[in-house]
Amino acid sequence: MSDSPVGDDVFGEDPSVNYLQDAFSELLGKEYGLFFPSGTMANQVSLQTLTRPGDTVIASQGAHILRYESGSAAGLAGIHIETIGEKSAFSLEELEAAIPPRDPHRSPVSLVALENTHNYAGGKIVGLETIKGISNMTTKMGIGLHLDGARLWNASIATGIPLAEWAEPFDTVSCCLSKGLGAPVGSLVATTKEIGLTLHRFRKRMGGGMRQAGVLASAGFYAMTHHFDRLADDHSNAKILAKKLEEKGFQVEGEPDTNIVMFRCDGGTKFLQAARELGVLLIAFEEFRFRAVTHLQISTSDIEKAALLLEEAREKN
Ligand SMILES: Cc1ncc(COP(=O)(O)O)c(C=O)c1O
Repeated sequence: MSDSPVGDDVFGEDPSVNYLQDAFSELLGKEYGLFFPSGTMANQVSLQTLTRPGDTVIASQGAHILRYESGSAAGLAGIHIETIGEKSAFSLEELEAAIPPRDPHRSPVSLVALENTHNYAGGKIVGLETIKGISNMTTKMGIGLHLDGARLWNASIATGIPLAEWAEPFDTVSCCLSKGLGAPVGSLVATTKEIGLTLHRFRKRMGGGMRQAGVLASAGFYAMTHHFDRLADDHSNAKILAKKLEEKGFQVEGEPDTNIVMFRCDGGTKFLQAARELGVLLIAFEEFRFRAVTHLQISTSDIEKAALLLEEAREKN
């Protein structure tokens, strides 16, 4: 990072940022890539670019863009998000039923937003066939399609399907460098040159022009080129953790698709706190529903230890 060549990225003159953006757009098979300070800004600027205030966006249950981005779709883009289906995806029938006829009383659906892998559903992969079905429908109806691909890397490694194939049906795709890939900061959006012009302007409007951001871009490039393939280790560690928790009597939500293990524990907040004190960090998605994530700082031998500590935390309550 300290050796990165830098320049003023607000003028498009930071070589490290340009290098990262080009490498990313090529990997995703798109014409244009843009670096963002966060996944939230990458998603929200994409939504702003593909909608107009007053429009409706259709998304899945628990979509990050609705649930965890601080109300910015409503507050900043002025759009209304409607969730349909069950957890990570929805059927074509459900989508068709959610799109109103042209009627001055109704808010038009201008965008469908998917999330892959799906965080709230526990790192679930939304299948490519499901995506292609949805994309056929949105294309026919002239509706845009955005992907919150914060963890698209994981879907690609778990299925062996290249990122470009996953990205192809979408107008805009956001990906985070700071999750499983392990970079300190940063996300990117891949899109067409045409959409990219507005995306770039709206990023600036949100204060996302970062001047000499090359130090961050270099860390992101390193993560993208050195930590992508190893996500397979996180996936196998997550499967081991799920099995161990099940053996210890925790109610686990099935075998994980990727690096997220969802399980239940009656202890609620007290259990969460006890686990933290023992050194195991979790997030509660609901009062008794917890998320554990495996990542590059967790080895297979840590998994056995984590399962034992979670058992101890449960017994403290
Ligand atoms: C699915 C998904 N999208 C977007 C984000 C937002 O990323 P950031 O925390 O960088 O804003 C997250 C973060 O947890 C996420 O899980």
